[in-house]
Amino acid sequence: MAQKIGICTGGGDAPGLNAVIRAFVKHGVRHHDWEIVGIEDSFNGLLSEPMRLQRLDLQSCKGLLHRGGTVLGTTNRGDPFAFPGEGGALTDRSGQLAAAVESLGLEGIVVVGGDGTQAIALRLMEERGVPVVGVPKTIDNDLSATDLTFGFMSAVEVATEALDRLHTTAESHDRVFFLEVMGRDAGHIALSAGIAGGADVILIPEIPYDPARVADKIQVRQALGRPFSIVVVAEGALPLGSGDDRAERRHRLARAGGAAALAKAQLEGRIQAEMRCCVLGHLQRGGSPVAFDRILATRFGVGAAELVAASRWGEMVCLRDGAITAVPIRRAVTQRLVDPAGQLVHAAAATGVELGAEVLGRSWGLLAASDQNL
Ligand code: F6P
Repeated sequence: MAQKIGICTGGGDAPGLNAVIRAFVKHGVRHHDWEIVGIEDSFNGLLSEPMRLQRLDLQSCKGLLHRGGTVLGTTNRGDPFAFPGEGGALTDRSGQLAAAVESLGLEGIVVVGGDGTQAIALRLMEERGVPVVGVPKTIDNDLSATDLTFGFMSAVEVATEALDRLHTTAESHDRVFFLEVMGRDAGHIALSAGIAGGADVILIPEIPYDPARVADKIQVRQALGRPFSIVVVAEGALPLGSGDDRAERRHRLARAGGAAALAKAQLEGRIQAEMRCCVLGHLQRGGSPVAFDRILATRFGVGAAELVAASRWGEMVCLRDGAITAVPIRRAVTQRLVDPAGQLVHAAAATGVELGAEVLGRSWGLLAASDQNL
């Protein structure tokens, strides 16, 4: 009898989810003759009555490679250990989930998701005996175990195109634009898109900014005959003195109407220029994955099938130094933020981008390194 494997996508969507599903199904069906069951809306499909499942075969994979979103649906409100019931009360339905897995005869589940979803998957395995294999996903690119997550490059591409477009209108009107981009507590999207889009200022959560420095940068540009400026603001970026408490930071940003609005407010009265905000929002998550993400997602899907075939439950595929490999999920759920002394920050600062604080970045020591690499 064919082995039966489940697959689900959890958390916020990211361009490339369908490419992972496609690669996993193709490899699993063609080489292992698996019967693959898609679980709808993260783990929720197993908890619905009747269960919401999709049979995934070679036919259902057609046209999936470039399609945005996820054909399985997703949610970030479906923790089976704290499942929202009637009246908002949270109940532990993880036992029901494990029973559903058993009744379907699933050997295990491939879980495509970010840190929150992987943490749930790990609990399901450790506390309920549900075998899982992980595939990392997030446009934020903030998972420590993998050099890159798919979806990130697509988000950076969208933000870069937005910056190109803002440039021409900002220049025409002599305006200062604040473009707010996603990233949660991490500034990876802001930093990469800011560099690619030629931003004048990049503000990220990892480097609390001094509004006086930002104002200074804009004024120097004005004095040099460049009356417009572009400021990229990560959604978690805050001015100096805002403290480290995450909940408090979110509350502060919500009160201000967002990170771009807050940065703009910090500059009121400090500069003479018309200032405007643009919040890019979910445009960064929707639509087709760029080529890089299609390739990475395909490699992750194939890697996940190989982990399942080898019964390496409890592991997650990842990209390390250009190669697909695997790590225990336990090690995968820690966050990786932008290194304020890292190479990207250095490249930005070295090309005149203001980051809102004195940043030196690491010297690359390229001359010494290149000799050794010959
Ligand atoms: O983690 C991905 C992400 O897009 C973050 O960048 C953002 O803060 C969050 O999800 C938005 O989530 P939601 O779509 O639930 O508002």
